[in-house]
Amino acid sequence: MGRMDGKIAIITGAASGIGAASAGLFAQEGACVLAVDRPQSAIEQVHAGNNAIAAMGCDITEKDAPRRIVAAVLEKFGAIDILFNNAGVSGRSFVEEMTDEEWDRVNAVNVRAMFRLCREAIPALKQRAKEKGRARIVNTASVMAFDTDYGLAAYCASKAGVGGLTRTLALELGKFNITANYVCPGAIYTGMTRTNFDKPEIRAVWEKKAALRRLGQPIDIARGALLLASDEADFITGHELVVDGGLTLRT
Ligand SMILES: NC(=O)c1ccc[n+]([C@@H]2O[C@H](COP(=O)([O-])OP(=O)(O)OC[C@H]3O[C@@H](n4cnc5c(N)ncnc54)[C@H](O)[C@@H]3O)[C@@H](O)[C@H]2O)c1
Repeated sequence: MGRMDGKIAIITGAASGIGAASAGLFAQEGACVLAVDRPQSAIEQVHAGNNAIAAMGCDITEKDAPRRIVAAVLEKFGAIDILFNNAGVSGRSFVEEMTDEEWDRVNAVNVRAMFRLCREAIPALKQRAKEKGRARIVNTASVMAFDTDYGLAAYCASKAGVGGLTRTLALELGKFNITANYVCPGAIYTGMTRTNFDKPEIRAVWEKKAALRRLGQPIDIARGALLLASDEADFITGHELVVDGGLTLRT
């Protein structure tokens, strides 16, 4: 018996890295997954042959993306148990040089699109929680929600925003038996970070910083998300789950 048997999940950013690993793991544990990313061909390629994963090519920042995503999952699978907002983008620019466009691009994906998809999914999550006793929102933030680095103002602001949004969702939705939690990955080897971590000197620095002396892999974060999405997490809400191998233990 899988930990996600009978569950229906939306996962954004599911064509690469953490989202791809999560879609694979949730499906392996018995869930039906609507995997959202773009382009559609990238999702289809990554999850080829996995019948539990339906691909939806969609830019989540588009105006009618939330409506289309929720309509697609309801049409395909009939309900939503889990909304896992994971898609994200990074960018590096000192504040003094950052353009409005750079700021807006990062915040549009990482927090605005997340808010808009949550808002759209809430009625279906409420309905499911009424019928089944629970529903879940899991959001991907970052250790950069509480730490920082040079050039990461937009990214850090967006990830701190994910924390604020998620805690408020937890407060507002608790009485409907919907939990909302967020995962904070540390330094993970994914599409976003590959160019940097393929450089041995950069990789070595980050490996040394973590208590566990390695980079995280997408599956490490997928397992954290699975925990928050599972029935075992019934009394966990508004929680910030740091999954960083001890990267942020030291000041
Ligand atoms: N890799 C790390 O070290 C790390 C650390 C902390 C947090 N995170 C967060 O983890 C999440 C997943 O990132 P990842 O590291 O797996 O990177 P990734 O680049 O491998 O995957 C992110 C996915 O999001 C998708 N995406 C981006 N913008 C989109 C949009 N507008 N519409 C639809 N899909 C979009 C991308 O196409 C990509 O497939 C992000 O929110 C990221 O900020 C990553």
